[in-house]
Parts: sequence; structure tokens; C-alpha cells
Amino acid sequence: MNPLQGKRIVLGVSGSVAAYKAADLASKLTQAGALVDVILSEGAERFVTPLTFASLTGRKARASLWEDDAHVIHVGLGEGADLLVIAPCTANTLAKLAAGQADNLLTLTALAARCPVLVAPAMDGGMFEHPATQANLQTLRQRGVQILGPAKGRMASGLVGLGRMLEPAEILGHVRLALSRNGPLAGKHVVVSAGGTQEPLDPVRYLTNRSSGKQGFALAQAALDLGARVSLVVGATAAALSTPTGAERTDVQTAAQMAEAVLGLSREADVLIMAAAVADFRPRQVQAHKIKKGALPRLELEHTQDILLAVAEQRWRVGRPAVVVGFAAESERLLENAQDKLERKGLSMIVANDISAPDAGFAVDTNRVSLVLPGGVVEHLPLMTKDEVAGEVLRRVVSLLGVG
Ligand code: CTP
Repeated sequence: MNPLQGKRIVLGVSGSVAAYKAADLASKLTQAGALVDVILSEGAERFVTPLTFASLTGRKARASLWEDDAHVIHVGLGEGADLLVIAPCTANTLAKLAAGQADNLLTLTALAARCPVLVAPAMDGGMFEHPATQANLQTLRQRGVQILGPAKGRMASGLVGLGRMLEPAEILGHVRLALSRNGPLAGKHVVVSAGGTQEPLDPVRYLTNRSSGKQGFALAQAALDLGARVSLVVGATAAALSTPTGAERTDVQTAAQMAEAVLGLSREADVLIMAAAVADFRPRQVQAHKIKKGALPRLELEHTQDILLAVAEQRWRVGRPAVVVGFAAESERLLENAQDKLERKGLSMIVANDISAPDAGFAVDTNRVSLVLPGGVVEHLPLMTKDEVAGEVLRRVVSLLGVG
């Protein structure tokens, strides 16, 4: 499932102070399961050493074009790589790449490479905005090179502007995305809802639930890892979860907003996974002003729209999405309730979890679920991380779509 596992990545490092961050990137890529071959430019060697990278990747890091085997290495590394990442990429290396120069081991390897190329520029004080750099970037983009960033912020000179290399975690996200594009869900659009909803009572108070959003975010990542285009509709989450790279995120607050977003997106989608904990009721009236504490207020509630029921009706009319997965968070009679929801909401599958167990459900990182399919087919999964549960759910989605 992890698109980095066993992949061969050539990491080119050029001579910017951001080279020290490339060490962190090399470490992250290696920890994610990739085989990372690092090539340093002469300038990079002034900031960091090949030994730094060799220690982090467990593989020889190279710099000189004139080592005994380097004249053939560039072809081997370039042709055998699944991905070439150049981070940081200086204005000088960028210019060489655009011109097709091959005067060091890094640029030589780039010229020999046949794999996708990601470039993370890093440069100071106005160099990024210079027309020469912009023209070089344009040339590279036209050739299919993906340019990552740069970010705006404080640079080594003390100037503030566009030119900071993206953070290693962000680059890792782009690498993961680039390596997953040929997966079984390539060309498929998956909509995932995550988190809880908040139903306002007045300008400062709302009714909500304990959903953390973690399972939904893990599902979005798992769908991306299989090559899907992913729309992530996010309600309230307990922690600030970072959006998986590549997911198109829509933020909503109420059940009504979630219904509008999900129904709109799923009309064109192949798969909908409703992991959000949508409120079943909301205050009948939202007070325009803060309710004063004087007299005890009477709360009158009304039902929200059941989004999955509306999707079932849409599916009957337009035939989309082909696969709809629901979640059932239950504290009693788990399987009977899940089965009932599966049928009532016309689902392809329902993921049932017992929220009374301390190691499953809301706010924790693990989940213990059962997958319920039509015809009374039930599969009990052991205690797993939410990432693993997401992988299992997506594996079933691939076979329900018949693309696996
Ligand atoms: N759901 C929905 N719209 C709602 C409420 C829930 O689409 N207004 C979806 C949830 O995202 C989940 C599934 O329906 O995928 C089951 O949600 P759950 O709260 O367990 O079931 P309910 O249908 O609300 O039934 P009950 O609360 O009575 O258990």
C-alpha cells in the first residue's frame, strides 16, 4: 500500500544552505521504505558531506564525477530510478537543467534519467523572481518537471520573500503522490468525508460529537496511495490534522453544509466513503444573539438530512457513485444495527465499529472494525491502526469497483 516501499529514488542536492534540510528529507524517504541514492553537487559538499547522507540512507552518496565508477554510475542511477528529486535546487542548477548541461554528476544523471522529476527550488533575495529563473522554470514545466514551491518566508540573507525550500515533510508528501499515480484507482474520483459536524445554537455555542477525523484522513491518504483523485470534505476535527498531499479539501461546519458538499461532489464521483460523524439533530432555531444565562433555555431540536439516504436516491437516478461505503459507530448490537443501516441506506459496504471499546472508535489511533457487505457477509478485522483499517477498506473498494 505504501507507494514508497522499495522504490528507487535519486535525491540530488545542490549548493544552498537548505542542503542541511535535504539530510532530513533523505532520512524521511529512507524511513518510508525507499532506497535513496544521493548525489551532491560541488556546492552542496560545502554545506553537507556525502557521509551525512550515507549514514542516513545506508547507501553510498556520491559527489564527484571523477570517481573510478562515476562515468557509468550516472546512467545506471538515472535509468534505474523511479523518481529523481532535486532538493534544494539552486538557481544555477535550475539553469543547467533547463539548458540540458551535464557538467557534474547531478546534472549528468538528470539528463540520463527517464523517470518523473521533482524539483524544489531554494534561492535568496529576488533570484526566484528574476525573468531568467522564471524562464528556466517554464522550460522545465513544459518538459513535465514538477516544481515544488518555493515557499515565502525568511531567507538566509535576512530578506523575506519567495525562495525558501519547501519543508522536507511537504516534499515527502509530493514524492508519495508522484509515486502513486499508476495505482489501481488511477482515473477514479473518491470522495471522503471526515470529522464531526457542529450545529450552532447561538453565535458562541454548538452541538457536536467526539469525532477526531483521523479515520477519514487515513482513508483519504489510502485512496491517494492507490492513485485516486481525492476530495476530502472536512467537518470539525479534534486535532489539527495535516491534509494529505494531493487531496482537494473542502471545509464545512454543519450537517447541511456537509450534505451540500458531499452531494455536489459525489454526482461526478466513482466512490463515496462517509466516515464523518454527521449530527442527526440540530437546534430548530439558531439564536441571533448569545443566549443569556437568566432563564434556562428550552432546546428544541429537528432532524438533519441523512446524507447517505440522499446519495442512495441520487445513485438510483444518475448511477453515481458506483461504490458507497458507510460507517456505523455503535455502542450496542453492533452487527444487527450495521446490517440494518447497510440495507436502509443502500450501501456497498459498511464499516462497523464498537465505540464502547476503549481501543477503538473516537479520538484513539487504533480501531477494531467489522466489514459488512450485502447478503450478510461479515469480515471481522483485528485491532489495527487507523491507517491499516483505511488500507483494508480501500482494498475492498478496489475489488468492489472491479479494478483490482
Ligand atoms: N450519516 C449521514 N447523514 C446523517 C447521519 C449519518 O450520511 N445525517 C452517515 C454517517 O456518515 C455514517 C452512516 O450514516 O456513514 C451511519 O451513521 P450513524 O450515525 O452510525 O447512523 P445513523 O443513520 O445516524 O443512525 P443512529 O444514529 O440511529 O445509529
